[in-house]
Amino acid sequence: MEVIIKETYDEMSIAAAKSVAQVLNTKPNAVLGMATGSTPLGLYKELVRMHKEESLDFSQVTTFNLDEYVGLPVTHDQSYHYFMHENFFKHVNIPRQNIYIPSGTTSNYEAFCQWFEQRISELGGIDVQILGIGSDGHIAFNEPTSSLSSRTRLKTLAKQTIDDNARFFDKPEDVPIYAITMGVGTILEAEKLLLVANKKNKAWAVAAAVEGPVTSMVTASALQLHPNAEVYVDRDAAGELKMADYYEWIQKMKPGAPQR
Ligand code: PGA
Repeated sequence: MEVIIKETYDEMSIAAAKSVAQVLNTKPNAVLGMATGSTPLGLYKELVRMHKEESLDFSQVTTFNLDEYVGLPVTHDQSYHYFMHENFFKHVNIPRQNIYIPSGTTSNYEAFCQWFEQRISELGGIDVQILGIGSDGHIAFNEPTSSLSSRTRLKTLAKQTIDDNARFFDKPEDVPIYAITMGVGTILEAEKLLLVANKKNKAWAVAAAVEGPVTSMVTASALQLHPNAEVYVDRDAAGELKMADYYEWIQKMKPGAPQR
């Protein structure tokens, strides 16, 4: 796992966006795994800037989103369909038919989840999966005790996640309780994982994911099982990392490392 600590949110977002752009530059028809939440907004803003100012091309790209709330229509301003359209898709040139987001309104969740997984494999798998992390250590909506080999499925959200999300809704009772989410096993099959985290309230989850035991109690700790995982954090989110000096030393020494 590579841990990249940046002083600010903007620096963190730019570094993470560069890593995504690198994949696109070597594979223009890459399959991108997208995440929602407030953390990846800076990363998306930078990718949009690269598209507008540096001709970063998305015309052959396919995307799969991690998750969606159950019960919210795609037009609801808190649905992840709406979020992705507003914050990313409407600003870049990804063909509409190449965008896959789990459905929160399907009549058959089991069949939908199976189809979603099947589409990911038919398209050759995800090249780079962007991830946020919940304050309880979840990735996507894989709440504590989700199997580390879980697949796309319907999930009941944890109380802490519902409370964390309440700030986006008018009334607490409007916060969805169920979601459809890629599983940890689905996520681990991506070629590269790229997790972003900022702010102090993520410091515990980041330390547990990077330095704690691999456990379904912190599903982000499954990144330790992945051969190509990058974790981008700002100084606040890095606050509880015991090995922070070592991670910074590695980054500093990287340019001089022997080339393969
Ligand atoms: P956030 O959500 O980026 O809004 O903090 C992260 C997550 O729960 O995955």
